[in-house]
Amino acid sequence: MAPRKIIIDTDPGQDDAVAILLALASPEELEVLGITVVAGNVPLPLTAKNARIICELAGKPDTLVFAGCDAPLKRKLVTAEHVHGKTGLDGPQLPSPKMALQSKHAVDFIIETLRDEAPGTVTLCPIGPLTNIAEAFLRAPDIMPRVQEIVLMGGAYFEVGNITPTAEFNIYVDPEAAEIVFKSGAPITVMPLDVTHKVLTTQPRVQAFRDMGTEAGRMVAEWTDFFERFDKEKYGSGGAPLHDPCVIAWLLQPALFSGRKINVEIETNSALTLGMTVADWWRVTDRAANALFIGDVDANGFFALLTERIRRL
Ligand code: BDR
Ligand code: CA
Repeated sequence: MAPRKIIIDTDPGQDDAVAILLALASPEELEVLGITVVAGNVPLPLTAKNARIICELAGKPDTLVFAGCDAPLKRKLVTAEHVHGKTGLDGPQLPSPKMALQSKHAVDFIIETLRDEAPGTVTLCPIGPLTNIAEAFLRAPDIMPRVQEIVLMGGAYFEVGNITPTAEFNIYVDPEAAEIVFKSGAPITVMPLDVTHKVLTTQPRVQAFRDMGTEAGRMVAEWTDFFERFDKEKYGSGGAPLHDPCVIAWLLQPALFSGRKINVEIETNSALTLGMTVADWWRVTDRAANALFIGDVDANGFFALLTERIRRL
């Protein structure tokens, strides 16, 4: 079977980095048409730089990287250096990227790709705030029915929030963009905190990356070492949640995950609960389902897949 065509929309971020490595290590299943970057964990110039560092680390300097929106649709940018460090990829020493950024704007790339490729053959993988995707939908509504699927990391139901008591970071940064995406009518699969908080970088799992003896294995281990100090302190857990790689793992091995088709609405008005994903997990409303909301994962299976793929790099 031909590999599935995907666009990764991202704000790297150590966990974004692992997601991108997982995708680039899986060319038999996934064809990465392009990586579009957005402001999120750190400002846009850094996410644009980081995405290229990651492609070069994967040995794929020919990957197309496009810079997109530098701020949310209507709000001031909120960043997460407290989790990811000043560069977004704090941890190991990193080289400066040699590969060039594409001159085209990420939003134009998303629009043109969805118009040029056959309808229903391009999957969008947003693992940062949803600004680029929403901007593309606003500017070119004709592309919405052409999307094969949107598989995104964002939101929460049982875990509620990580950046505020009730909101997950990617949705909170640009709730208006998230609302546009969830109302787009495109098939959506959501990896919320409920599932990402189950894939933890425990010590033996990180050691498996270190033991590979490769540059990619070492980087993944050092990134997770850095990134997990924050979550260990916050949650008292045995490691950090590898949020964004869940999106790529779903494309590679959906049987690792389970969830429910439910209605998800985004809170855009309340100061107290801004960016909350109001997920009708118990189906207590008659609002139509608009997303497959993932709730559970085989964490050992997830790390077996991730380790096997990172070893290939
Ligand atoms: C999400 O926010 C970012 O900090 C991570 O990269 C992930 O995409 C988790 O809430
Ligand atoms: Ca991210």
